[in-house]
Amino acid sequence: MTARPREQWGTRAGFLLAAIGSAIGLGNIWRFPYIAYENGGGAFLLPYLIALLSAGIPLLIFEYTIGHKFRGSPPLAFRRLSRFTESIGWWQVAICFVIAVYYAVIIAWAIRYVGFSVGQQWGSDPGAFFNNDFLHIADQPGFAAPFVPGVLWPLIAVWVVTLGVLAFGVRRGIEAANKIFIPLLVVLFLILVVRALFLPGALDGLDAFFSPDWSSITDGSVWVAAYGQIFFSLSVGFGIMITYASYLKRKSDLGGSALVAGFANSSFEILAGIGVFATLGFMAHQTGVAVSEAATSGPGLAFVAFPTIISELSAGAAWFGILFFTCLVLAGLSSLISIVQVIISSVQDRTGLARVPAVLIVGGLTAAVSIGLFPTRNGLYLLDVADHFINQYGIVLAAFVAVILVAWVLRKLDVLQTHTDTVSNLKVGRLWMVLLGVITPLVLMWMMIDSLRQEFEKNYGDYTTDYLLTAGWGVAGAAIVFGVVMALLPWRGPGTADDEDNSTSVELTKEAKS
Ligand code: ALA
Repeated sequence: MTARPREQWGTRAGFLLAAIGSAIGLGNIWRFPYIAYENGGGAFLLPYLIALLSAGIPLLIFEYTIGHKFRGSPPLAFRRLSRFTESIGWWQVAICFVIAVYYAVIIAWAIRYVGFSVGQQWGSDPGAFFNNDFLHIADQPGFAAPFVPGVLWPLIAVWVVTLGVLAFGVRRGIEAANKIFIPLLVVLFLILVVRALFLPGALDGLDAFFSPDWSSITDGSVWVAAYGQIFFSLSVGFGIMITYASYLKRKSDLGGSALVAGFANSSFEILAGIGVFATLGFMAHQTGVAVSEAATSGPGLAFVAFPTIISELSAGAAWFGILFFTCLVLAGLSSLISIVQVIISSVQDRTGLARVPAVLIVGGLTAAVSIGLFPTRNGLYLLDVADHFINQYGIVLAAFVAVILVAWVLRKLDVLQTHTDTVSNLKVGRLWMVLLGVITPLVLMWMMIDSLRQEFEKNYGDYTTDYLLTAGWGVAGAAIVFGVVMALLPWRGPGTADDEDNSTSVELTKEAKS
């Protein structure tokens, strides 16, 4: 059996748009403004930028290099790096599976809210509307619960679009979709931010957002929050960038691409902070509620505070709502596509399945779990717990283990650095090795210890211990077990370590000659 040639991006711009599309997601629009505000406002920007430069971009280069050098989805690329790291790749596949099944549901809510914006159907109490009339949320967290049809059908639509794009492949599907989604998202979001800046009270909101609380800079938890936001937002630790980089041509500027993607993502994020806080300032102006009270996180901000604000607008309320929720849908879809591609591409590399059957079987199974579990009256509880645990003890922990194994146990950072500097215009040099080998693991370890301390101090979200053990620790633990078991199963034939990819230097020489 001969291995199928690996798909490739059409252009570098196409790859960059897809990488930026993966990074810009729900996390940029609802998570960043709140995290920044809670952690010192204007003063947060300093730890945030340091986190971007000292760990975010080095990790991005790490993932690009592994994907590019070993030309595979995470399990295959890590296996080619060393048999001992294959389990990290499968662990990342499991993490992507867990995230995909709930991330899709938030996009489904946003789709409904595009419609609700017309006539502000959430009425005078958007909080009650969201929980009771829309989600029909159960009184107690649980597992099995009746379906909520109003969430079920948009969720099915999200999966049809996502799998439809993926079925067209890397160039005609993912790249083409991002070429439409990302410019559209940026234009719509700019219109939204400019409109927000002209609202009465907008400047008070910006004042709250940018006024530095310098005392917070000495607070360790502010730094933990800054690094956490950067990882989530850049999509590092999921294996997405390994997968996307595996479709790059041999001569690709990895260092330069990481800088472009990292700064594009953070610029959008800061823009989102400006837009959201200008709008919260308007809300404070209209209702007398302080900006600090209006700034709540997660679903609260996007699906409760925003509808409240939209209802206050005297003119163009429907358009403001349609724009905001359409932006959430576009940002969410381009990230979801990248998350599901990790799972599909890994199964393809492992089994040799062609793309369309892989999308139907693997994507279909992921969609079925998402549709079976989340559009129910328990959906919000399950989503909240799974999200918290898979982020802390999935993404961050997997990134930590990968860096420790590669840098300190296998001592392969110099091999990776040589590869990056051979193919890139922008050389990363020894500085990258120091940042990734020393600073990043120290920060990740600190984050892990701090978050475990909080976990044992108080049950997350006041859920019962039993519920957290099953939906939280259980899910995060199962992802690790899956990774280990998959790596223990025999894997031979094309695409495996048996045909370890040594083609880089040969291809580079060929490219240089031509
Ligand atoms: N990076 C993606 C986001 O910000 C996952 O939502």
